[in-house]
Amino acid sequence: MINISKPYIGPEEIDAVVKVLKSGQVVQGPVTAKLEEKFAKYCGCKYAVAFNSGTAALHAGLYAFGVEAGGEVITTPFTFVATANPILMQGARVVFADVSEKDFNIDPEEVIKKINKKTKAIIPVDLYGQIYNFKALKKIARDNDLKILEDACQAVGAEQDGKRAGNFGDAAAFSLYATKNIMSAEGGMLTTNNAEIYKKSKMFRHHGQSEERRYEYLDLGYNYRTTDICAAIGLEQLKRADKFNKQRIKNASALTKGLARIPGIILPQVKAGSVHVFHQYTIRVTDEYGQSRDELIEFLKKKGIGCGIYYPKSLHLHSHFQKQGYKKGDFPVAEKLAGQVLSLPVHPGVGAEDIKQIIAAIKLNKK
Ligand SMILES: Cc1ncc(COP(=O)(O)O)c(C=O)c1O
Repeated sequence: MINISKPYIGPEEIDAVVKVLKSGQVVQGPVTAKLEEKFAKYCGCKYAVAFNSGTAALHAGLYAFGVEAGGEVITTPFTFVATANPILMQGARVVFADVSEKDFNIDPEEVIKKINKKTKAIIPVDLYGQIYNFKALKKIARDNDLKILEDACQAVGAEQDGKRAGNFGDAAAFSLYATKNIMSAEGGMLTTNNAEIYKKSKMFRHHGQSEERRYEYLDLGYNYRTTDICAAIGLEQLKRADKFNKQRIKNASALTKGLARIPGIILPQVKAGSVHVFHQYTIRVTDEYGQSRDELIEFLKKKGIGCGIYYPKSLHLHSHFQKQGYKKGDFPVAEKLAGQVLSLPVHPGVGAEDIKQIIAAIKLNKK
């Protein structure tokens, strides 16, 4: 079976976890602090704050921006639900803007249409491992005095114009969930170059406690702390981030070469100046292929090839967002893509023979 994802757990990760367990200091401590330092350095950012998930990091980012009830945050409906939920968690309104067919990411022209006096921030997503359309959104944010929270949960190590993910906003959130390009079982990171955002997000992670005085709470916060057990895994993975990403990029380019010119199969595009780290290699299956996307999935399954749909339903069609007044037809591009996308195995554990099998199966199944 060629799995759609497979975390790498080697002797280095196992030894690092055992060392933490033996030390007796298992909760957030010195190993987490070391991961924060190394992660910030890797991204080329001043600060990194560790969390127990990417969702928590996103929530902390919005809190640090001052997003609260009465405010609005613009984001994409074509993403994992955790991009948008933290907006609701802060009591603000989720305002979706449709995506572009070219890169699956938020369309700056659509964002402009959604801005009003209540708008506080934008959350663009580096979906599948490619940085969003930063130049256009940065200008929009600057012109309208809005903050940008980069959802880089799928994009550790991705680059645009020589800068790494984590630098394309006032803050950026990463996920270290088990299937991500690097992982710590569960975990997250918030990066920023802003001292105030750094301070507030650290406070938020620990019940709003003052940095200076223990048991003095300056605001509502949560228990979003991680553990040194998870951080130990993350540190080992971070050392190999570039190696893992290189293998993903190599696999993606082999898939692109092999799947080129199959009618009805639209391949992922890499933008100029972009290093796409292929958290997912996502094709689109259109009518011209002669078989539906779901028929292709069944066929691949029978051949022992795992695949995934990220994401099968645009967020605005889920009940807790529909309560905000959204309905079918509101975001036609996101709705169309949700019916076409198919992600193929691309992780570092996928070898050249596996790639050949995937390509052959997709060609064989064509009607
Ligand atoms: C785009 C996106 N945003 C947010 C998240 C949330 O991260 P986590 O699962 O670590 O909370 C994920 C990861 O699953 C993601 O892919």
